[in-house]
Amino acid sequence: MRITDTSDLWWKSAVIYCVDIKTFLDWNDDGVGDFEGLAHRMDYLHELGVTCLWLMPFYPSPNRDDGYDISDFYSVDPRLGDLGDAVEVIRTARDRGMRVIIDLVVNHTSVKHPWFVASRSSKTNKYRDFYVWRDSPPKHSEPVSFPGEETSVWQLDKKTNQYYLHSFYKEQPDLNVVNPKVRDEMVKIMGFWLELGISGFRVDAVPFILDTEGVLPEEGVLDHPLDFLRSLREFLGRRSGEGMLLGEVNLPHKDQLRYFGGDDADGLTMQFDFIAMENMYLSLARSDARPLARALKARPPLPVEAQWANFVRNHDELTLDKLSESERQEVFDAFGPEENMRAYNRGIVRRLPTMLGGDPRRIRMVYSLLFSLPGTPVLFYGEELGMGENLNIGGRMSVRTPMQWAPTRNGGFSNAPASRLVAPIPDDGYSPEHINASEQRHDPDSLLHFVRKLIERNRASVEIGWGDLEILEHPVPAVLAHAVSGAEGRMIALHNFGSNPATVDLELRDTVDGTILVDLLVEGTVAVGPRGAVQLLLDGYGCRWLRVLDPGDKRLG
Ligand code: NOJ
Repeated sequence: MRITDTSDLWWKSAVIYCVDIKTFLDWNDDGVGDFEGLAHRMDYLHELGVTCLWLMPFYPSPNRDDGYDISDFYSVDPRLGDLGDAVEVIRTARDRGMRVIIDLVVNHTSVKHPWFVASRSSKTNKYRDFYVWRDSPPKHSEPVSFPGEETSVWQLDKKTNQYYLHSFYKEQPDLNVVNPKVRDEMVKIMGFWLELGISGFRVDAVPFILDTEGVLPEEGVLDHPLDFLRSLREFLGRRSGEGMLLGEVNLPHKDQLRYFGGDDADGLTMQFDFIAMENMYLSLARSDARPLARALKARPPLPVEAQWANFVRNHDELTLDKLSESERQEVFDAFGPEENMRAYNRGIVRRLPTMLGGDPRRIRMVYSLLFSLPGTPVLFYGEELGMGENLNIGGRMSVRTPMQWAPTRNGGFSNAPASRLVAPIPDDGYSPEHINASEQRHDPDSLLHFVRKLIERNRASVEIGWGDLEILEHPVPAVLAHAVSGAEGRMIALHNFGSNPATVDLELRDTVDGTILVDLLVEGTVAVGPRGAVQLLLDGYGCRWLRVLDPGDKRLG
């Protein structure tokens, strides 16, 4: 038997599901989701086919930035439970064959963190250099992350009459990564959670952590910021054979390569592909697959130990910052025409189904794409149901509404009075009455069932996580045709961004007499002609996955 490392690098063929515990399921009916609620939904997640849970920040926090402003890295927001409950969730997940990764937010703390409380108390406090202090803001400062909400990344602190750096809200002072003591604290935090059974981290705001330009230059402790990333990876490897680092690095592909650690692949193990995601929305807006095809073709090849993470939507605004101004405007016009649907002049605060006018064919086509693109798919909770958003909340928070479990009061999320819920539930055509898990579980035609099938087929197609991508040339602009080939075999997938049915003529490489294509999402087989010629039909907004089988191939179609 050939021993492959497919299970060692488990994250290369994982299906990741992002959960915000406080909006998932409220077990004690105080209006806020909790660890116990999540533990009671492990079977739901397992049934869906999820293999890895990403838990968004669950630490004690004043919640200026919805938990991304942490006041204690070693504990749990008391509304969600306690450390024991966290361990129970990690254990229950593992029992169902699922791993858990957690947010590692080490670019900043909350102003309420004891380190900052001490740091701001006097210029001579031993925690002073845990943060970045200046007599005056430098002439060339970075732009603010939340335009309209902040005006500068430097904030004057009256007590000591110096300014501190905050890349995000002023209540989130940046830690000084140049200080070796801070770096020691960071790895200690990682070590703590690894001992509790987690399998890795979604590393928040990586480029900000590493941006040490202008920070205590006189000390020059860090030879190269990326060395710090390497040291985190090294530490992780020493503590856990399976540890992975999924980095949030919203940069052009060529810069992302450096964060993977270049040819040595000793940096981040995975990174979200923001470029492909943004171009996918441009393709949707134009009903033209070519922007996405170009973005995918331009993806640099990665060493085997590195991986792209694909996503349709996350908890933030759907950023379109890497598109040109006119491209971004096209997407705004198509999917975020009203002012309250957009944030920070760069993104949209809606979920996919509302942007696509609820068209089930288009929604399914997009998720089919997500699970067929080379890389690891990452779902945001509720995407499998087609949940919408609540624009009355406003800004990025609009998409962070409670999970919709049932067509009952508060969507089955909680029995607390609606006024006490952590966030208000949508009351439009996307309310729990229309979109909920319990009804979709019993409906074989539901989106939930479709996503389950996609996950099953994805898991049975190892080449998606491990193989090489080829964009197949053909003359229909609305259709993306791609092939993924790996040691296990090859599949091709077609996605129609247009509303008209399409006929696509392809010439497949390396076929032999008798090669067939077996449909993976429906029943069907297509014979491949001489020189790999094959004609495939697609419905408007249709999608097809096809396994390439040569005569004698024992793979299941
Ligand atoms: C990225 C997170 O996704 C976002 O929600 C948060 O506001 C910033 N990092 C700061 O932690």
